[in-house]
Amino acid sequence: MAVAGLFLMLFLVFHLATNLLMLAGDGGKAFANAVRFLTENPAVKAMEYILFAGFLVHIALGVILQVHNYRSRPVRYHKRLQTETSQFSRYMIHTGVIILVFLVIHLLNFFFIRLGWVALPDHAESRHDFFSMAVVLFQNPWYSLIYIVSFVFLGFHLKHAFQSAFQSLGLNHTRYTPAIKVIGTIYALAISIGFSLIPLYFLFIY
Ligand code: HEM
Repeated sequence: MAVAGLFLMLFLVFHLATNLLMLAGDGGKAFANAVRFLTENPAVKAMEYILFAGFLVHIALGVILQVHNYRSRPVRYHKRLQTETSQFSRYMIHTGVIILVFLVIHLLNFFFIRLGWVALPDHAESRHDFFSMAVVLFQNPWYSLIYIVSFVFLGFHLKHAFQSAFQSLGLNHTRYTPAIKVIGTIYALAISIGFSLIPLYFLFIY
């Protein structure tokens, strides 16, 4: 669960860096070059299978662990621990489900078009013309809202996920845990604000 989670967190850094190229102000040229490099590179193709395996393992184990936890403590504690960590950890399955719903919508918006499973929108020149797809998608305020709200919940999920992954791997230590928590919060903020910049750019600037 933790290893799959850390792998997905690494993917998000690459995915954000690639997609922020959309904001280069060159009509999507730099982004199109990056997409071409990624989609034509066999190593990246192989990574895509590992990525989806990572998502499936993470989601399946998340559900199994949730059911297991529920079964082991069907009667909730009367007095709840009100620590900051418990707040975020208690809603991991809820934020996880919201991210999963986002992912399905998101794959329909881009990836499944590339695979030819979803029809090519009229405004796109080819199945790799993600920039034109993003322009029209994010100029629809409802889609931008769905994406930005999803990124807020992604941030909540990542804030706890980061430190919890280190804990699960036994990499936490009284001396390092405070630093891991701070880095985790900075990472969660960077990912959710970074991704939110893209719909905001197409909605208000482009
Ligand atoms: C505004 C934010 C985002 C934009 C503009 C964006 C854009 C894209 C594009 C253009 C693709 C198609 C790439 C291809 O088929 O080669 C893609 C695929 C994908 N996206 Fe995103 N993405 C965003 C946020 C996210 C987030 C937050 C997640 C995860 C929670 C995510 C997960 C994925 C996955 C799993 C794929 C399919 C694998 C891949 O092709 O890389 N994306 N995204």
